Amino acid sequence: MKLFDTLLSETRSLFKKQFNTEPVWLASAPGRVNLIGEHTDYNDGFVFPMAIERQTIMAAAPYDGKTAKIYSAQSGELAEILIDGTSQPPASKEKVKWHSYVQGVVAFCIEAGLQPQPFCAVIHSNVPLGGGLSSSASLEVSIATVLEAMTGKRIDPVQKSLLCQQAEHKYAHMPCGIMDQFISALAKKDHAMLLDCRSQVPKPIPMSDTGVSVLIVNSNKKHELAGGEYAERRKQCEEAAQILEVSKLRDADPVRLETARDKLNDLQYRRAKHVISEDLRTRKAADALIAEDWAACGNLMYQSHFSMCTDFEITTPYLDLLVSLARWLGVEGGVYGSRMTGGGFGGCTVSLVKTDKVEEVSNKIREGYKAVTGIEPTIFATRPAQGAAVIEGS
Ligand code: GLA
Repeated sequence: MKLFDTLLSETRSLFKKQFNTEPVWLASAPGRVNLIGEHTDYNDGFVFPMAIERQTIMAAAPYDGKTAKIYSAQSGELAEILIDGTSQPPASKEKVKWHSYVQGVVAFCIEAGLQPQPFCAVIHSNVPLGGGLSSSASLEVSIATVLEAMTGKRIDPVQKSLLCQQAEHKYAHMPCGIMDQFISALAKKDHAMLLDCRSQVPKPIPMSDTGVSVLIVNSNKKHELAGGEYAERRKQCEEAAQILEVSKLRDADPVRLETARDKLNDLQYRRAKHVISEDLRTRKAADALIAEDWAACGNLMYQSHFSMCTDFEITTPYLDLLVSLARWLGVEGGVYGSRMTGGGFGGCTVSLVKTDKVEEVSNKIREGYKAVTGIEPTIFATRPAQGAAVIEGS
C-alpha cells in the first residue's frame, strides 16, 4: 500500500477509536525539501523547494461542547482548543507545545473569517518531526485546509500560507520565513517551485526527468530551530543589511558587500556573504534544472553546503559527513550533488541521484555514516508532490 493510503487509513481508524464516529472532513498537507536557497526567504530572496511524498493529515467531525478536541497520533495526547477567539499565545517559547500550533492556526483562521463549529479531530503525520522537512508547516497548513472544508469557505492559498506563518511566529515563537508554508500550500505535483520571496509569486519548474531522483537522508540528529540560533541568524542578516544600506540582503550584490567590507564585523560579513551568494546560486540552479543540466545543479548544491558550513555556520559534523560521502561517490557513483536542507543544526541532506543508482547510493551512504557515527540514517527517495488538499468534505 502506498504511504499516503496507509497514513489515511491509520488516521481513520484512530479517529474511530478516539471519538467513536467517522470523520466528516479530511485534509492533508505535505512536508517539503528545499533543493537550494537556504536562509534566503526572510531576506526577501529566492528559494527552490518542492513538496515531498510525506504528509500530515487532519480528520475532523462535529462535536458537542464549546471547544475543539484534538488528538495527536504522534504525542498520544488529547488537547482542548478554543474556538471563540479568546486564545492567547504561550508566554514564552519554553511553553510551546504541539497544540500551540493548532491553537495558533485556528485563531488566525477565525480572524480570516473561517469560524468553525465545535469539532473533534485527529492529526497524524509521516513527516519526520524536527527533521528539517517542515513537519510544522505541514501541520499548520493541514489545519487551515480542514477548517476550509469545515466552513465551506476558501481562502487564497497565498493568504493561507501567510496566516500559518503568523501562527508560527506568534504561537510557536519561531520567526520563520515564508518558504515552508508556501510550498506546503501551493506545491504542484512533479514540479519544484522557484519562489521570489519578495513578490511572493511562485514559478513552478517541471521535474519530469525520471532518470534523476531526489534522495533525502536524515542524519537522525534533531534540530532545535526555536533554540535561538535561527532568530540569531535572522538578526545578523538584518544588521548586515542595515550597514550595507539596503532594505534586505536581497538588494545587495557581491560588489556592494566587498566595498563595505570594512564596515562589517567578520560575522556580519560572512552571514551576508552566504545570503548574497546563495541567492545567485538559487537562480542559477533553477536555470540548470530547467536545462536538465544535473551536473551544474549538483555543483551549486555542494557550493551551497560549503557556504552554510563555513559562512553561515548552520551545518553539523553529521550533515557534513553525509555530504562528503555523497561527494566521494560522485557523478560516476550516481550522485550529482548534495547539501544540507532546511533551517540547519541537524536534520536532513538532499541529494540529486541517478534513479538507477538510488539503492546502491543509499546503501553506501548508510554504511559509511553508520561506520563513523554509529547512527542509522533514514533514507528515502521522493518525487515532487502535490500541495495541500481537501480529501473529504466540502
Ligand atoms: C526554516 C524556516 C524557513 C527557512 C528555512 C531556511 O525551515 O521555517 O522559513 O528560513 O528554515 O532556509
